[in-house]
Amino acid sequence: MADSLSNKKRGGFTGRMGFILAAAGSAIGLGNVWKFPFEVADGGGAAFLFMYLIFCFVFCLPIMVSEISIGRAAQRDAVSAFETGKKSWNVVGKLGVLSAVLVLSFYNIVAGWALGYVVEILMGNFSIGEEFGTYINDIAKISLYAGIFMLLTAYTVSKGISKGIERLSKVLMPLLLSLMVILILYGFFLPHAGAGLKYYLIPNFANISLEVIYNAMGQAFFSLSLGLGAMITYGSYLPKNENIVHASAFVVLADVGIAFLAGLMIFPFVAHLNAGDMSDISGGAGLIFVTLPGGFESLGPGIGLVVGSLFFLLLSFAALTSTVSLLEIPVAYAVDKLSISRKAVVWFLGLFVFLLGIPSLLSQGDSAFLSACLSYLNSSESRSFMDIIEHISSDTFLPLGGFGIVLYVLFGWRKKRFHAELSQGYPNYVGSIWQRYLDFSLAYLCPVILSLMVLLTILDRFIGINVLKILTDAL
Ligand code: PFF
Repeated sequence: MADSLSNKKRGGFTGRMGFILAAAGSAIGLGNVWKFPFEVADGGGAAFLFMYLIFCFVFCLPIMVSEISIGRAAQRDAVSAFETGKKSWNVVGKLGVLSAVLVLSFYNIVAGWALGYVVEILMGNFSIGEEFGTYINDIAKISLYAGIFMLLTAYTVSKGISKGIERLSKVLMPLLLSLMVILILYGFFLPHAGAGLKYYLIPNFANISLEVIYNAMGQAFFSLSLGLGAMITYGSYLPKNENIVHASAFVVLADVGIAFLAGLMIFPFVAHLNAGDMSDISGGAGLIFVTLPGGFESLGPGIGLVVGSLFFLLLSFAALTSTVSLLEIPVAYAVDKLSISRKAVVWFLGLFVFLLGIPSLLSQGDSAFLSACLSYLNSSESRSFMDIIEHISSDTFLPLGGFGIVLYVLFGWRKKRFHAELSQGYPNYVGSIWQRYLDFSLAYLCPVILSLMVLLTILDRFIGINVLKILTDAL
């Protein structure tokens, strides 16, 4: 009784569809549309895609199932959810809350860039790509766009789960898919589209290196919003009669599917711009923000304006369903643990995270100090403030948090309770092939892969030793 009363107060998803769309919305974001295509470009086209798929299903899916079931079993925020056994496990949840705040602080800035591009392109400013460096250092402008983005995020989260996050995802996810399909179909008919598709779809296994494999691992983990409690938090709002394993598989499929479609959408435009010459495609952040606007301009002023602004609108939609999930993590923690009203927490945290993002915003060149504020041990290369926050949070804390989650399932919560939770909504789960696969992956694959990821990242990012490169050179 007490539980149902408190659940009424917490709110929740109305059913499977709402949950899947919201969780897929969290997963599908800048990572899919912005980062994935250039990781593909750098990593051998479909060869990278192939590895990405393997990582998503073999090692990320079991972690997603774990996170959702931890949350649903506890029906509490990402910190309290770890307190079912020994209370000290909640340090994993606290690390997650901290990571969410840090990731959101810079993610919101990049989302602001995308939102600003919608306006710039609508105003016919196609040279925005060439002016990217100046644009991201127009502090007043970017603060405004990032501020609007945070306002939209906070407004949605303040409305709660079913009326805020679920409603937003139910509108934006189908819209995102429709816009994507329209742009893909349009791109297919552009001159030289075939060269782009060939570049994307024909695997070039020669480009695969240990570093590319490592990047695919990190990309899969970040793209599925794992390791910081987003899925624990969303899982805590999932009704008990839903099948967690199937819902998770859907979310992974949706995430992988949209990443794949993003490539189909982008490469024909890039090929069109380069008149079919794909030998010199620059990867990195520039592929979307620098290269693409020129591609849109080459379609002609009218159609370029429509297609270009739709593209960046789509990117903003994808980002918004991710930022709401990031903000919901600390909000749920404060609401459940400290019993503070949702609205008060949301607006306070929204402002706090926005202000926390200001140094990242200034670190793109405007402030000489923040743009090159630190060089790590054994490395002369200096890092910007945004780089440092990204290295600490998404590169290091996320796999570390994932490692903590796996250890919690194995040694804190224990398999028996994990399986019991999964059996709710999936009566034939025990003894199924899913059970055997999850058991194996969580006991062997996940701990090995995640600890390797953490170790390699710390050595590379903070100590300047790139073990993978050393190994590759030695082989
Ligand atoms: N998965 C999102 C993306 O691919 O852009 C990023 C993200 C959202 C990471 C939410 C973590 C998270 F909790």
